[in-house]
Amino acid sequence: MAPQNLSTFCLLLLYLIGAVIAGRDFYKILGVPRSASIKDIKKAYRKLALQLHPDRNPDDPQAQEKFQDLGAAYEYIFFGDFGFMFGGTPRQQDRNIPRGSDIIVDLEVTLEEVYAGNFVEVVRNKPVARQAPGKRKCNCRQEMRTTQLGPGRFQMTQEVVCDECPNVKLVNEERTLEVEIEPGVRDGMEYPFIGEGEPHVDGEPGDLRFRIKVVKHRIFERRGDDLYTNVTISLVESLVGFEMDITHLDGHKVHISRDKITRPGAKLWKKGEGLPNFDNNNIKGSLIITFDVDFPKEQLTEEAREGIRQLLKQGPVQKVYNGLQGY
Ligand SMILES: *[C@@H]1O[C@H](CO)[C@@H](O)[C@H](O)[C@H]1NC(C)=O
Repeated sequence: MAPQNLSTFCLLLLYLIGAVIAGRDFYKILGVPRSASIKDIKKAYRKLALQLHPDRNPDDPQAQEKFQDLGAAYEYIFFGDFGFMFGGTPRQQDRNIPRGSDIIVDLEVTLEEVYAGNFVEVVRNKPVARQAPGKRKCNCRQEMRTTQLGPGRFQMTQEVVCDECPNVKLVNEERTLEVEIEPGVRDGMEYPFIGEGEPHVDGEPGDLRFRIKVVKHRIFERRGDDLYTNVTISLVESLVGFEMDITHLDGHKVHISRDKITRPGAKLWKKGEGLPNFDNNNIKGSLIITFDVDFPKEQLTEEAREGIRQLLKQGPVQKVYNGLQGY
């Protein structure tokens, strides 16, 4: 095992022990067996996150809670901190605790990255609350105060009561976040970083979510797990056949050879040369190549025309039709 893998493994092991100590079954929440690999856990999380997102379940009053449990489980298994592990309580989203806003950032990824996967480092300048000298008012609330004015006479007044908290100031802290672009990732999928969103002086920070945005590619177009591309061949190649290589997203060559006539608009399917499927990277889509025929630009001499007539021996086909099938 490489040293890096080893340390990751040790950390993971500690977290797993922690999961048992804390008494909550995070594996159950994620719906994975205890033997699940990191990859399986991630997959399960992302699948559930899409299903359980409160925006998708407006009729379920518990949607928010389920979604947050899921986030906590995922965070725990991957980003759990040691304070929590040794007897702390999991970060729960108490409605009474104010929360900073979530930040959603579009993360542009290339088709090359979708094909092979990648790790992207994002430097985030995050305002963090740090203790500062002095005190500040906090947890302010309205309270009823009763004052005795005389025997049997009371006056009730409402007043604002605050606690005193240590002063805080927001300090910019640079953090490097690593986002894994998984092979086959789809447009709009989100990678959450719990607690990395906007801070809140009196509460918890929101979350930071990277939303995948696949940018257009010069050569390939994506449809699901399939890739589409166009190839222009000459009129001669369309008649006599040809061989060529298309350079794929990771640089490997896809060999194409035809010895039959290739009509304009003809499609060639290359199974397994598409994008890896997100849920199972071993399955790949197809590469679909549409051919386009480039006609000679110069006019032919009378001699050449006669030669072609002799060669092709194709009589006149001058069918006039409206192009609609069935008529
Ligand atoms: C292939 O050509 C068609 C027709 O011109 C076009 O609509 C399509 O976007 C092209 N595909 C790619 C991958 O460039």
